[in-house]
Amino acid sequence: MMLNNMIKLVLFSCLTSTSPLLLADDDPRVLVELPEMMQKYMMSNMRAHLKTINEILLSLANNKMDEAANLAEQRLGMTSLGSHGAEHMGKFMPKGMRQAGTNMHKAASRFSLKAEEGELLLAYKSLAEVTATCVACHAVYRIK
Ligand code: HEC
Repeated sequence: MMLNNMIKLVLFSCLTSTSPLLLADDDPRVLVELPEMMQKYMMSNMRAHLKTINEILLSLANNKMDEAANLAEQRLGMTSLGSHGAEHMGKFMPKGMRQAGTNMHKAASRFSLKAEEGELLLAYKSLAEVTATCVACHAVYRIK
């Protein structure tokens, strides 16, 4: 009985979620066409973002709050804007996508300040607000 319900739930989730199982044709995300160079550049930036999140989590887990704060500000926060050519990239993005990017940078800078305050639980909460901005953009846009 329980098992049966579980299976139904899993099936339902597969059918209704925007999981990678989706075929391209059914993909509801907005396709943003970028020049190939830009695509590569953006994707390598993205992998760096994920790496940074991982490093921030490690710093938090080791109670190195200042390290977490620096990583976030330098690599994801408002300070990082110049270093990854956001202004140049921004020109190729629709307004909503640009806004989603700005939201991420702002959330990262807010996290950085939170981490400096030294309250671990509040810092984790604030980090979840950063990852929420990743999720929000991924839900709406794709580049291929
Ligand atoms: C402004 C929008 C936006 C934001 C914000 C954003 N991403 Fe992405 N990301 C994308 C798009 C678009 C893709 C490509 C998806 C596709 O075409 O299927 C992508 C792809 C990726 C990939 C796959 C890279 C690869 O080589 O396959 C990773 C990993 C990733 N993002 C991590 C992150 C993380 C972590 C964050 C937050 C810290 C983040 N992204 C924030 C738009 C965004």
